[in-house]
Amino acid sequence: MENYKIAVIPGDGIGPEVIREGLKILDAVSKKYNFTVETKNFPYGGEHYMKTKEVLPEAAMEELKNFDAIYLGAVGHPDVKPGILERGILLKLRFDFDQYINLRPVKLYENVETPIKNKQPEDINYVVVRENTGGLYVGEGEFQNKGTADEVAIQKMVYSRKQVERCIRYAFEFIKKNHSNNPWRGLTQEEIGKKFIGKLTLCGKTNVLTYAFDLWERAFNEIAKEYPNILTDYVHVDAACIYMIESPQRFNVIVTGNMFGDIITDLAAVTQGGMGVASSGNINPEGTSMFEPVHGSAPQFTGKGVINPIATIATLQLMLDHLGQPEAAANVESAMRKTIQKMESMLVERMGYTTSEVGDMVLEAL
Ligand code: IPM
Ligand code: MN
Repeated sequence: MENYKIAVIPGDGIGPEVIREGLKILDAVSKKYNFTVETKNFPYGGEHYMKTKEVLPEAAMEELKNFDAIYLGAVGHPDVKPGILERGILLKLRFDFDQYINLRPVKLYENVETPIKNKQPEDINYVVVRENTGGLYVGEGEFQNKGTADEVAIQKMVYSRKQVERCIRYAFEFIKKNHSNNPWRGLTQEEIGKKFIGKLTLCGKTNVLTYAFDLWERAFNEIAKEYPNILTDYVHVDAACIYMIESPQRFNVIVTGNMFGDIITDLAAVTQGGMGVASSGNINPEGTSMFEPVHGSAPQFTGKGVINPIATIATLQLMLDHLGQPEAAANVESAMRKTIQKMESMLVERMGYTTSEVGDMVLEAL
């Protein structure tokens, strides 16, 4: 029997509440699909930092390495200066564990309200593969003449060929692996006739960022030759924002850099019903990956049972897929879809049910 070691970081605010629902469901699917899960809780987050001044110690990193995955609720605390927990926990995990892919599915489920007029679930159904260890996030740069009228601040967008290549390759392989679940996404009838199995769109800014996205574009075009049955496309990031609203059906998989991926996936989350739904996986295919809902710790709602656990449950689905339990993952998704049918809204305080009732409904539907 397969056994998985899962490190759990419930975090701050509503993090523990949503993680509790996710773990309930993980426990049930493990029994149903005959695998076992060993979980260990880690206390890191803003609350822990306020008490101990400890963010995420090296000893914990050493220990976390030995887990199959990390399941994280949310970190963030109103009394902790912005940047400390982001850099010290989220980005540290992503960088130190080389979680070079940030996988963010964008799916409008049946019965979920989207602010885009006239768009149906079949129109909004794509995946963003965000590069997760490079670009503007590397934190390289400097101040010159700091504090003077002549001050200059420099923040570098840094990408290596290897970094870009592994990300693009992951995106092509993702289509190869998953296209049969939903074969013709992002393709027109004519393209389907030509037997393409999917479409990968590079989202960049080649007209302005003439170093970084020149490298991305060259790598993309070269790697594309290895995948003749996958259609390729390029969009500038600003135009991508237009298409995500006007014609999201043109997308199947989007691959993009770290900063653009951060921004467009918030926009994408709104089109799929908001932060109550958006899931993400920080993936190192060869190492320890970390799964977290896209939303934050929402401290003002702590303990009220009004937060939507669907994002965390959709995140569990990603984790199960990653661990090699695709049937359990698919079961979680279908139970989630059934539950969403009954919910009044995906928005905080508007669900028509409490956080744990939503979790119970998913359990029931499994
Ligand atoms: C996200 C968040 C993080 C990011 C922050 C909290 C560091 O916005 O996961 O999208 O910018 O990647
Ligand atoms: Mn973000």
